[in-house]
Amino acid sequence: MNSFELNKIIGAVLAGVLILLVVNEVAKLAVHPTYPESPAYAIDTSAITSTDVASDEEEDTGPSLAVLLASADAESGKQSFKKCATCHTAEEGGANKIGPNLYGVLDRVKGAVDGFSYSNALHEKGGEWTYENLNHFLTKPSDYIKGTKMAFPGIKKPEERADLILYLRSLGKSDTPLPVVEEEKPAEASEGAETNTEGATEAPAATEEKPAGDAN
Ligand code: HEC
Repeated sequence: MNSFELNKIIGAVLAGVLILLVVNEVAKLAVHPTYPESPAYAIDTSAITSTDVASDEEEDTGPSLAVLLASADAESGKQSFKKCATCHTAEEGGANKIGPNLYGVLDRVKGAVDGFSYSNALHEKGGEWTYENLNHFLTKPSDYIKGTKMAFPGIKKPEERADLILYLRSLGKSDTPLPVVEEEKPAEASEGAETNTEGATEAPAATEEKPAGDAN
């Protein structure tokens, strides 16, 4: 290979680099991405005050029953059931004591155990023992059904109630789907904000890559 050949090759390479640079610059001139000063989907967070967020996490309202059930423990519930066992049996076909047998009580029609004489108040309440209803009843029975025969003050701790309800579910109703955990509103808002900023940072990167791709 003589020096003349080498010059031609170097020349060709330099010309190639030059063309690439020129094309890149032209492309930058041609494509003018404009970015809005404010995000396209502005999320109004003015309504959410710090106290709102705090009260959502604190005991004021507390976590929802669905959230509590998701982390509840049926074994602890079984322990708590000792408080109920003076009046209730839990096994299938168990006898009625002061209260009715509770096997399969979840989602069962209220007052459905044969041979147990319920109060009129309970019959009149009607409906089924859903998760929510059980939770309400076990918080304070006389508050949920005024005039109930169940002489029990209730269980104050939401976590303990959730454990108990999960235990009641284990009595022949394990197939019953647990309530769906809904996303809390403040969490949704911040999630939206996250995707927004992501979108903004991704956009310039994508448009700058394009011209280079075209050139090759
Ligand atoms: C002092 C006795 C007593 C205790 C303790 C007690 N219960 Fe009851 N329970 C009853 C009686 C009586 C009834 C019937 C209420 C009525 O007819 O108004 C009842 C009814 C119920 C029902 C409705 C059953 C149905 O078939 O509709 C559920 C659920 C229940 N109890 C759960 C519990 C749980 C869980 C506990 C423990 C945390 C508990 N009970 C503690 C006496 C008791």
